[in-house]
Amino acid sequence: MIMTNQEAHQQQAKRIQQYYAFQSRIYDLTRWSFLFGRSTILNELPYEHEEPFHLLEVGCGTGHNLVRAKRLFSEVKLTGMDVSKDMLSKAKRRLSVVPEVVLLEQPYGDNCYTWTGKLDAILFSYALTMINPQWEMLIHQAYKDLRPGGYIAVVDFHDARWLSFKKHMAGHHVRMDSHLLPVLEDNFYPIKKDIKNAYFGTWQYLQFVGKKV
Ligand SMILES: C[S@@+](CC[C@H](N)C(=O)[O-])C[C@H]1O[C@@H](n2cnc3c(N)ncnc32)[C@H](O)[C@@H]1O
Repeated sequence: MIMTNQEAHQQQAKRIQQYYAFQSRIYDLTRWSFLFGRSTILNELPYEHEEPFHLLEVGCGTGHNLVRAKRLFSEVKLTGMDVSKDMLSKAKRRLSVVPEVVLLEQPYGDNCYTWTGKLDAILFSYALTMINPQWEMLIHQAYKDLRPGGYIAVVDFHDARWLSFKKHMAGHHVRMDSHLLPVLEDNFYPIKKDIKNAYFGTWQYLQFVGKKV
């Protein structure tokens, strides 16, 4: 059966919505223990504390990074996008103290947004490895949506030592095949690129910040 892009996006979104219907309840209690690198990725964006700029987080989940972004950058304009209403409802609650955050319930994808060519920064934090098979299309979409000189920031799983662990993670919709980095490097000029071990090398995670040149 041949699927259109739109149908494939819908199918991916549906899988993820189902997954987070339960996982959203335990997300913030559990993810600190394995989603490493989130606490420092935003520090790598070369913006000043009081500099106004527009940051989109694709797959913002429960709003963990958006809150942190507001703490780091007092004048930042924040937009979060996610397909899971359950994750977004947690984000809404958490961000109720942060004025003017825009949260959008939709899949990021092959669209012409009002911000196309204008965004200053786009963050993908543990989202791209879950967006299969569209992850590469999303990197290209981010390229289109950033202004020249804007930044993409990515923190995500990179690879794992054992096939059995990769299979386990595939059961959680995560692909870990060293596949993100080459595409990020092909599209953006790297200003930060780091691959780190988690749990003595059981898996590796990636931090990448790249500039649209
Ligand atoms: C592992 S969570 C990461 C959440 C948050 N970025 C963080 O670091 O805690 C992945 C998030 O990506 C969202 N997501 C998955 N596919 C998406 C898509 N196509 N468009 C937008 N968000 C998506 C999921 O609903 C989920 O909230």
